[in-house]
Amino acid sequence: MGFRCMLMELALFSIKLTVMATSFAAEAKPGCQTHCGGITIPYPFGTGSAECYINESFSIRCNTSFDPPRAFLTTTDIEVLHISVDGYLRIRYPVGYDCYNSSGSSSYFNAGFTLEKFYISHTRNKFTAIGCDTYAYIEGFVGRTYSTGCVSFCYDAAEVVNGSGSGIGCCQIDIPKGVTDYRLSFGSYWSHSKVLSFNPCSYGFAVEDGVYGFSLSHFLDPDFGKKKFPMILDWTIGNQSCTEARMDPQNYACKENSACIAPANGRGYLCKCLHGSKGNPYLSHGCQI
Ligand SMILES: *[C@@H]1O[C@H](CO)[C@@H](O)[C@H](O)[C@H]1NC(C)=O
Ligand SMILES: *[C@@H]1O[C@H](CO)[C@@H](O)[C@H](O)[C@H]1NC(C)=O
Ligand SMILES: *[C@@H]1O[C@H](CO)[C@@H](O)[C@H](O)[C@H]1NC(C)=O
Ligand SMILES: *[C@@H]1O[C@H](CO)[C@@H](O)[C@H](O)[C@H]1NC(C)=O
Ligand SMILES: *[C@@H]1O[C@H](CO)[C@@H](O)[C@H](O)[C@H]1NC(C)=O
Repeated sequence: MGFRCMLMELALFSIKLTVMATSFAAEAKPGCQTHCGGITIPYPFGTGSAECYINESFSIRCNTSFDPPRAFLTTTDIEVLHISVDGYLRIRYPVGYDCYNSSGSSSYFNAGFTLEKFYISHTRNKFTAIGCDTYAYIEGFVGRTYSTGCVSFCYDAAEVVNGSGSGIGCCQIDIPKGVTDYRLSFGSYWSHSKVLSFNPCSYGFAVEDGVYGFSLSHFLDPDFGKKKFPMILDWTIGNQSCTEARMDPQNYACKENSACIAPANGRGYLCKCLHGSKGNPYLSHGCQI
């Protein structure tokens, strides 16, 4: 786990490979906008008019006041970096923080969101906390409320181990399965008073596994609290099982030459091209040999 913290460049390289491998297959619905800036928008996602996406949850807001334009998830301010027809998307999400100065608490940001149709990938993200007087936890909802988190205490900058998620300055844990709801909370034992000289803040964030490499220098980086990290969300169609979905042909999303599969995370289903065909199984004749 700590080892993974160091594989930053390798992970970024593999992200590029994934983007290259899947982008040829992604297609928008005919007549709909295919890109927003550099982001390909494959159906069931879409932007613009309601025929372009399967559901309001899959609507992408393309903001052209940025150059290049940036894609956002429906009505949220969550930025989308990549959409895969294989049932996941990569977003960019801000770091949460809890900062102190010599008179006590100085600033606090408890990032969080609720996304009914998207699940935080339990296999491809790590919840990460950094700090030396730090409890950081996520509270969320998976049918019922849950809470899970990280604890990190250290007393001297020399103890801090760079590039590690071992618990000396940096802690990483898995995120449970089925989470649609993400809320950060922080605690500290001495309000950072014993470590103020080198660690005034606790930071917490969910990040794509392998992307974040911890360094002692992040503790005193005045811009660390403004950072955003990539995070993987899983998406599915509807909330029915494959069996239930097939009995509802009007709304069944899997088109010719494709099959329904159960998702690894969350309720609903996904579609997959069959018989060596490739393409977009959610579009009519989207799967091509
Ligand atoms: C686009 O982004 C700008 C800057 O953040 C914001 O002011 C504007 O409201 C956004 N427009 C849309 C259509 O989302
Ligand atoms: C500590 O932070 C608070 C809130 O930002 C600020 O009002 C106060 O002046 C700061 N104290 C010192 C000693 O910097
Ligand atoms: C960790 O990284 C920081 C900044 O890059 C450096 O100053 C420090 O000496 C490193 N610590 C160790 C134990 O390597
Ligand atoms: C779209 O939303 C409706 C109503 O909320 C829901 O019944 C349906 O399952 C959703 N479809 C997909 C593809 O998620
Ligand atoms: C499935 O989604 C529909 C529409 O969003 C909702 O009305 C229904 O209660 C959901 N079914 C279950 C079992 O949660």
